[in-house]
Amino acid sequence: MREIYFITGNKGKLLEAEKKLSDLDVRIIQKNIGYPEIQADTLEEVAEFGVQYLVDKVKDTFILEDAGLFIDALKGFPGVYSAYVYKTIGFNGILKLMEGIRDRGAVFRSVYAYKEPDSPALFFIGECRGAIATKNRGSNGFGFDPIFIPSGSTRTFAEMSTEEKNSFSHRGKALEKLYDFLENRIKLA
Ligand code: IMP
Repeated sequence: MREIYFITGNKGKLLEAEKKLSDLDVRIIQKNIGYPEIQADTLEEVAEFGVQYLVDKVKDTFILEDAGLFIDALKGFPGVYSAYVYKTIGFNGILKLMEGIRDRGAVFRSVYAYKEPDSPALFFIGECRGAIATKNRGSNGFGFDPIFIPSGSTRTFAEMSTEEKNSFSHRGKALEKLYDFLENRIKLA
C-alpha cells in the first residue's frame, strides 16, 4: 500500500480526504508540521510556496491543500485571507459584513498539491458555488461550513455528513481529480 503524507493540522480536511480516497490502495497519514501561508493573490501561489518550503523537510510523497471562500458582494474577500479572517472575526464576522446585502453569491475554491520525490508538484483544483446563509446553521464540518449553502441544496455544509459535503464541495471536486490521477498512477506503477 502506498503511503501519502497529508501536511495539515486540520482534522476535517483529513477526514474528507480519507473518505474520498478510501477505496484506493493508499494510506493517508497526517503530518502536522505546518508551513508558511504566504500573502499572495491566488491559492495556487500559496500552495506552490508551501510545497517548495516542505520539499527538503518531507522526503516521501505528500499532499497539501489550500482553500478559500470568495464572496461576490465583497469582491472576493476573504479569498486568500480566509484562514486569517476565520481566526479573527470568524463566520459571525462574515454574517455581520453581509448584513443587508442581497447578493449572497460566493464560491469556495480548493487547490490540492501532490508532490512525489524528484518530480514536479501537480495541482488539482475544485470549486463549489453557493450562497452565504443569513444565519449560521448546523454543527458538522469546520470553518465557514455553518454559513455556506452549496448550489443545489437548501442546507449548509455544516448540516451535511462528510460524504454529502464531499459530493458538493470544492475539496471533494479537487479530490476527485486527485483520485483519478492516483488510480492511474497506481495502475502504471
Ligand atoms: P486553509 O486552506 O486551511 O488555509 O483554509 C482557509 C480558511 O477557509 C480556513 O479558515 C478554513 O476554516 C476555511 N475553509 C477551508 N475549507 C473550508 C470548507 O470546506 N468549509 C468551511 N471552511 C473552509
